[in-house]
Amino acid sequence: MSVTIKSAQELEYMREAGRILAEVHQTLGDSLTEGMSTLEIDRLGEEIIRSYGCEPSFLNYMGYPASVCVSVNDEVVHGIPRADKIVRGGDIVSLDIGVIYKGYHSDAARTHGIGEISQEAKRLIEVTRESFFQGMEYATAGRHLNDISGAIGDYATSQGCGVVRDLVGHGIGSHLHEEPEIPNFRKFRRGIKLQAGMTLAVEPMINAGGASVVWMDDEWTVVTADHSLSAHYENTIVITNGRPEILTLTPSEKKNMIE
Ligand code: MF3
Ligand code: CO
Repeated sequence: MSVTIKSAQELEYMREAGRILAEVHQTLGDSLTEGMSTLEIDRLGEEIIRSYGCEPSFLNYMGYPASVCVSVNDEVVHGIPRADKIVRGGDIVSLDIGVIYKGYHSDAARTHGIGEISQEAKRLIEVTRESFFQGMEYATAGRHLNDISGAIGDYATSQGCGVVRDLVGHGIGSHLHEEPEIPNFRKFRRGIKLQAGMTLAVEPMINAGGASVVWMDDEWTVVTADHSLSAHYENTIVITNGRPEILTLTPSEKKNMIE
């Protein structure tokens, strides 16, 4: 399968999938409290997704056993929810969620602080978010994929953070993962030429320390090799001839973007 250009109808479904996912993130993020288990977070997330008549994209995907990836502190991505893993004040918690609406996926991630978090943690979360928007400056038809990847990686590196290289963003649509792969660092090759109607999940995974990651024995959870903190920020976007359409922002996130 190659990179697809979505039809007007497909884009309508993806906009709705994105709008719903933004609300799911908002509701679940607002519900996070000290003392919750990561399994409770997942169960609540699944309930919210289903309340919109959507299906969770991740449940049973390649054998993944939950609806929400809940990754705490040094966990980078794909943390498997567990009843015996409790979030505490000072933790940072990355929530990665996908929903399916009328057969089309949206995919987005946010990192939240529980109670008061360290300056280092706040800064990491902000650098990760900002790296995504640095990438968006190049997310327009006629540019190349490497322009996005390079802008993300260059920014995060300039801020002294480690850019995870072993995991990438991806095309998205009727499948959760479509072509192309979207690295978060500059490569030698410029990559595909961006065209209006391409739908992409851009997802920087950024570490406070080194870039190296390792996989845990559960074969899903990815952690930083040096156990430094890690943050994740992801949105589903549509390439246009102008600025990208970001499908998974809430109205208030859109407003903050302009300010
Ligand atoms: N946002 C992640 C990704 O794009 C989520 C996939 S997790 C899985 O790849 F559980 F679905 F595999
Ligand atoms: Co993704």
